[in-house]
Amino acid sequence: LNQFLPKDRTRPPVVFHWFPFIGSAIHYGMDPLGFFLSCREKYGNVFTFILLGRKVTVALGAAGNNFILGGKSNVFNAEDAYTHFTTPVFGKDVVYDCPNDKFMEQKKFIKYSLTGDRFREYVGMITEEVEGFIKKDETFAAYQANSKEWAKFDAVETLSQITILTAARTLQGKEVRDNLDKTFAHLYSDLDGGFKPINFLFPNLPLESYRARDRAHKKIADFYIDIIQKRKSGTTENVDDVMGYLMQQKYRNGQQIPDHEVAHMLIALLMAGQHTSSATGAWATLHIAENPELVEVMYAEQVKHFGNPDGSFREMTFEEMRDLPVLDAVIRETLRMHPPIHSIMRGVREDVPVPTSLASPDKEGGVYIIPKGNYTLASPIMSQMDPSIWVHPERFETARWTDPEGFAKQALRTYDDKDGEKIDFGFGLVSKGTESPYQPFGAGRHRCIGEQFAYLQLGVVLTTLVRHLEMKLGAPFPGNDYTTMITMPLAPRDVYYRRRPTAV
Ligand code: HEM
Repeated sequence: LNQFLPKDRTRPPVVFHWFPFIGSAIHYGMDPLGFFLSCREKYGNVFTFILLGRKVTVALGAAGNNFILGGKSNVFNAEDAYTHFTTPVFGKDVVYDCPNDKFMEQKKFIKYSLTGDRFREYVGMITEEVEGFIKKDETFAAYQANSKEWAKFDAVETLSQITILTAARTLQGKEVRDNLDKTFAHLYSDLDGGFKPINFLFPNLPLESYRARDRAHKKIADFYIDIIQKRKSGTTENVDDVMGYLMQQKYRNGQQIPDHEVAHMLIALLMAGQHTSSATGAWATLHIAENPELVEVMYAEQVKHFGNPDGSFREMTFEEMRDLPVLDAVIRETLRMHPPIHSIMRGVREDVPVPTSLASPDKEGGVYIIPKGNYTLASPIMSQMDPSIWVHPERFETARWTDPEGFAKQALRTYDDKDGEKIDFGFGLVSKGTESPYQPFGAGRHRCIGEQFAYLQLGVVLTTLVRHLEMKLGAPFPGNDYTTMITMPLAPRDVYYRRRPTAV
């Protein structure tokens, strides 16, 4: 490739910074959206910033997303960007600790284990877990006392507990769910401690939290391996769940998946979905509580489709769930405003030319070279909150997704894709391609395989809450805490609730 590159090796502009090693870490870490918007004004869509010694080249906008996420994996490499902090949590020989071709096979196994048949069973399981939680958890004492008073719960705490219970029950199987309340709660929390920005920046420090992460990984992996071996030897019943499915699969080279890889894939599965879904659940709950009318519209949608004459509800089927426009729009709009993964990174393995027209339309004809060893960054949050694409991006408007004639038409600007065709970004027309400005689940080779599961889980969790609770906010809508790995609402993030008269 090098011989074809121009002699003039112009690099993308570097963002001004005062301190050499730290660079722009603080501005980016505290407020990535604000940082990107201000950099775009000064440097255009393509620029490099320093993040604690790393050189990170950003390509903003739908064209930037396409450039990075549609790039070849031997040029823009995910393992180089992620393995140092994911491998101690997930374990060896899976995900980013193996060649990408092998991980692609592992993704396929997981995807095929998440079938419609399983999803059909999951609806009832998730409903049961959420109802069980609000009937038992001490935060919901007022609910249990059948009180008519408003009481409150912390959206992040509650949604993260509900998410782990429902994910464990569905994706991890009975043995894991049954142990969740006892042995596992603190182990998961220690393992989770390995998913903080500090771990991303410094993979190994002599700190107790790092040792706790490693101990927890070993204990959980051993627990899974023990179940696998018991199932194999017939000591326990073989169950038709995700673990059971993985135990039967073979790689293309004919090798059965080794036990430790099955265990590590299951850990990765739980971790990949936990923060992403719980953050989305928390933001969605806060948005609907901010607008009690929307809570009632969602409630009415439930009554219309699933209400019994006595005020109770029948269970939704998986198929019916996919046809609830208000629920769907709430989740979509939440993911637009709060994509849990605001930055998608890759390691650059060869010098890469990037047309300067990507940086700015008035810079036709030139190229910048992103040098080997840099990192690149695509930012879903930037293209999803970009005022040049979305009208009033800062407003939570479910109508963007439900009303083709009304708000969606006016609120979403159209945009010329690379072939000059107009794409209307509203109403389900946002594509899954790498060129789309709506990418909460990423795009291209590394695209999420958990999207359908996440919609199912979030859908059942939110509707179960809405079926039982009236909700409202007691304080202004919380801002973003970007200092956690996954963007979370800042405290206070209380949701005030009141038990519905018809609640079980
Ligand atoms: C990849 C977001 C839930 C499993 C991704 C990526 C994003 C994402 C942005 C692309 C990362 C990259 O390109 O570097 C989300 C969101 C979720 C969610 C917003 C929930 C609201 C889940 C769940 C699972 C899961 C529930 C498991 C069942 C995965 C896997 C990958 C992935 C295996 C592939 C990583 C790769 O190929 O490098 N997700 N995810 N995700 N996600 Fe999700």
